[in-house]
Amino acid sequence: KTIFVLNGPNLNMLGKREPGIYGGKTLADIEADCQKAGADLGLTVDFRQSNHEGMLVDWLHEAGEKAAGVAFNAGAYTHTSVALHDAIRAISPLPVIEVHISNVHAREEFRHKSMIAPAAKGVICGFGPHSYILALQALKTLTQ
Ligand code: DQA
Repeated sequence: KTIFVLNGPNLNMLGKREPGIYGGKTLADIEADCQKAGADLGLTVDFRQSNHEGMLVDWLHEAGEKAAGVAFNAGAYTHTSVALHDAIRAISPLPVIEVHISNVHAREEFRHKSMIAPAAKGVICGFGPHSYILALQALKTLTQ
């Protein structure tokens, strides 16, 4: 089974970007960890990043055709995007798990609201890059 791991804006800057919040790993490091965890779980991981909202919409539609589930870190679009909410609903019942590296609830008020969460199967946040691995484990169980 193929799992799409989709990453939104500014996540290409991981490693340099606010390391006190997001840690020192780059997105390439996180991809390597996801590829390893995916292989151990018997899942094929298709890992992508875009800074463009419409690209993420297109990839969710593509997941609806090709994937068994999606782990989705929408970055700041989490807090703003009706289009991403609608795209997740459009591919229902494909399980989409919202992922965050940081604990968004322990941060600024504007990060407490998620437009994605009401359309998602579940939310994993606050475990650093390990949040992605937890999402892959959850998707393995959900798609068994
Ligand atoms: C994030 C949290 C978001 O609030 C923020 O805009 C990000 C990263 C996280 O993984 O912790 O870009 O999604």
